[in-house]
Amino acid sequence: MLRRLHPDQPDSFAFTADNQKWAEAQMKKFPEGRQASAIIPLLWRAQEQEGWLTRPAIEHVAGMLDLAYIRALEVASFYFMFQLQPVGSVAHIQICGTLSCMICGAEDLIGVCKDKIASKPHTLSADGKFSWEEVECLGSCANAPMAQIGKDYYEDLTTARLIEIIDELAAGKVPVPGPQNGRYGAEPLAGLTSLKDHEAGRTQYNASVQAAVDIGDTVKRIDGTEVPLLTPWIDDGAVKTAPKPAAKNAKEPKPAAKKPAGDTGVTKQQAKATSKAKPVSKSNPAPAEAPVAESAPETLSAPRGGKGDDLKKISGVGPKLEGVLHDLGFWHFDQIAKWTEAEVAWVDSRLKFKGRITRDNWMAQAAELAKKAE
Ligand code: FES
Repeated sequence: MLRRLHPDQPDSFAFTADNQKWAEAQMKKFPEGRQASAIIPLLWRAQEQEGWLTRPAIEHVAGMLDLAYIRALEVASFYFMFQLQPVGSVAHIQICGTLSCMICGAEDLIGVCKDKIASKPHTLSADGKFSWEEVECLGSCANAPMAQIGKDYYEDLTTARLIEIIDELAAGKVPVPGPQNGRYGAEPLAGLTSLKDHEAGRTQYNASVQAAVDIGDTVKRIDGTEVPLLTPWIDDGAVKTAPKPAAKNAKEPKPAAKKPAGDTGVTKQQAKATSKAKPVSKSNPAPAEAPVAESAPETLSAPRGGKGDDLKKISGVGPKLEGVLHDLGFWHFDQIAKWTEAEVAWVDSRLKFKGRITRDNWMAQAAELAKKAE
């Protein structure tokens, strides 16, 4: 199926205050310069808030993570968990249509969805409460056929039971998720044959179903207010310092003192530790990585001809970073294309995410873009 942005989009997106706080805390989980790693949780939260993933939401998240819009869209359009079109206000029903479920009756369940919701997937029901789609295996094959509704699985389904579930949800009830045929989990239909000792102490429902029953909901959307902000990696607003990565070769055994391995004067352990590097000797000590001296590149106070290039075309430059580059005096591809190593160090030290310029090779990209522009 083609996954494209929906033609009707809202004008804007903003996280609720609680969700914004949550999203910022997620970004702090990652080392400086790697905030883009938070993209999936942030997109997911935006979807939870709105029900589906709108273009302004994708762009908003891209802006927060300083990513080019296309990078965020690539993620949003790749994963089926992201809904790129409006879904039912009560529930979006995902019927598994893969092998086990298909041979156990998935097609009949899809028939129920077509009858009760809409003849086509990703289409809202007449009352706007439901939508549905067929999805690939959800990993609950032993309880086929099944569907994911909201955050939970409804397993061992029959058409009659699915009809009831949809009716219950429409009436504002929350049907108990999990196996719908009396099974506790994925044990044989005739009952447990082993691990019977555990039966006595178990909860009324299996773990995830019990959690859903305890919470009393499975389809409510997260808006940031339902649970306290869980950010154990942050203390009173301050980020706990992540343990620094061990220095290169830190775990390598230290050379035994005064025990040269041979003519080179290097111990066997040193020789092993540096076998892939240049041989180390007194006359050829291992070079320490000296920081590159900074040198300010030529900058402009305004774009030439009143119009700059679209720097967002450089992979790795998002709208936020483009603004920073403008502030620094860079408006054109040809300016970036000719940065020297010392000039890269100068720009790098003024960006929030260090190392990005070299990693994404902005100079080569800019040179290519400048050539095309000409
Ligand atoms: S085939 Fe349906 S859950 Fe695996």
